[in-house]
Amino acid sequence: MKTLTITRPDDWHVHVRNGTILKAVLPHTARQFARAIIMPNLKPPVTTVDQALAYRDEILAAVPMDVDFTPLMTLYLTATTTAAEIKNAAASEHIHAFKLYPAGATTHSDLGVADIVAAYPLFAAMEKYQIPLLIHGEVTDADCDIFDRERMFIERYLIDIIKQFPKLRVVFEHVTTQEAVQFVESASTNVAATITPQHLLYNRNALFVGGIRPHHYCLPVLKREQHRLALVKAATSGNPKFFLGTDSAPHTTETKENTCGCAGCFSAAIALELYAEAFEAANALDKLEGFASFYGADFYRLPRNSGTITLENTSWDMPSSYGENGISITPLKANETIHWKVKWSNQTEHL
Ligand code: NCD
Ligand code: ZN
Repeated sequence: MKTLTITRPDDWHVHVRNGTILKAVLPHTARQFARAIIMPNLKPPVTTVDQALAYRDEILAAVPMDVDFTPLMTLYLTATTTAAEIKNAAASEHIHAFKLYPAGATTHSDLGVADIVAAYPLFAAMEKYQIPLLIHGEVTDADCDIFDRERMFIERYLIDIIKQFPKLRVVFEHVTTQEAVQFVESASTNVAATITPQHLLYNRNALFVGGIRPHHYCLPVLKREQHRLALVKAATSGNPKFFLGTDSAPHTTETKENTCGCAGCFSAAIALELYAEAFEAANALDKLEGFASFYGADFYRLPRNSGTITLENTSWDMPSSYGENGISITPLKANETIHWKVKWSNQTEHL
């Protein structure tokens, strides 16, 4: 049987929620990844160092006993974030970034930043204290076509942000377009991007195969095939500016299969398997380790992990849902055949 062993990877963008959903989803991430950048869009959002440390404790309590996992916390940027909080965050060994959600862009983003230029003094503080800024790069104007939102964000905001703050470290999160790939490639080494498994595997047709497919709906929304191909090329290129960020974003089955369904794909249970499928299809399995296990750590200035994880090339059926205690979360590829399986993980030695 074909197997693939790589250094234990990290997930540089994941939503693990809190409460019952946290308990259901966190073990999946913790089994595959040594560390993960935890998104702060709870309700209410995680905006202070103290809140992030309390959330970190809640996450640690949900890590299975036999697993070694480190959550890397982030703070949610709002109009009322202060430079003092940025300084505090940068000084904390547990806080690794700020997340910018344009107000109204996605799940729980109503308290996000409405006036991005007004946040420039905060970007200056992040540049000064060298804490990365993670950007959900989509404009939110109701009259902007949903498929153009990422491209418009680059033109309207990102170009100027990196010009004004050349030493600010920026991660353009979950890039979905050819334009975003080109922007990141041509920017300085202070600018990087995460890429999700769904944007490597699907184009926008996947939203409408035989009917509407709520479990393929996430934000930024899936794009045309030409964009998917650009993302595959970037992820498998060996360019260290592109690294793994699943954007696994669990919602209950009822809230996704709804007249107004939530955005987000739950991929944590098969994250590495999905990336292996995408890299194998591009004939680039040898590039998976850099993308999954090295480049993100290098960008965040953290040591690379030293344990390993092994995937087997074997077919198995994905369950229709995950969760217990009355909750159900439908994963990406529910009831479909998966062609890779994580087999064994030597998790003892990272960091
Ligand atoms: C995310 C969520 O549900 O928190 N949803 C998504 O579609 N990706 C938010 C986000 O990252 O945009
Ligand atoms: Zn996200």
